[in-house]
Amino acid sequence: MNPSEKDNRQIFSAGILTISDSGSIGERIDISGERIVEIIELAGFHKRLKAIVPDEIPDISEKLVEWSDSGEVDIIFTTGGTGLGPRDVTPEATKNVLDLEIPGISEAMRIKTFERTSFAILSRSTAGIRSGCLIVNLPGSPKGVEECLEVVIDSLPHALEMIKGWKSHVESN
Ligand code: MTE
Repeated sequence: MNPSEKDNRQIFSAGILTISDSGSIGERIDISGERIVEIIELAGFHKRLKAIVPDEIPDISEKLVEWSDSGEVDIIFTTGGTGLGPRDVTPEATKNVLDLEIPGISEAMRIKTFERTSFAILSRSTAGIRSGCLIVNLPGSPKGVEECLEVVIDSLPHALEMIKGWKSHVESN
């Protein structure tokens, strides 16, 4: 993409939701959340909302619903809680609130990054739309965030253009 094309792109607003028990009580620095902010701002997105919640389905789902239904953000990136541990519930909390799942986003992240790290397939991340807002789960590690965003970031502005129709669809139903 040349610079003029980048300049003409619409700026989309993003929310970054870190899912971490220790982070939510201030016992861990949110490196992955900050890394998401850096990467998406370089790609032309605007960080509007940021929060940390514990690995609890109600807390995660509630925040996703609040942010997507408010219309304040076009896209929400979550980080953490997508693995195989008993406290890893982000995919379930996300699926609970989606209007439409978009399997290809997470499939691409797993397949492409598996070439670098065999642990990529241990993430159960999902993605989809709620109230015209795109929600994308990312793994919890800074490396996972970087590798996965690299795979999908260029596809996201076009996805968000297509999703715009969902806002009016949801409002009229
Ligand atoms: N994907 C990429 N691209 N790079 C990574 O380093 N880490 C994996 C996986 N996905 C990783 C990745 C690991 S080790 C785990 S346990 C799962 O994501 C789930 O991580 P989470 O529970 O922190 O979300």
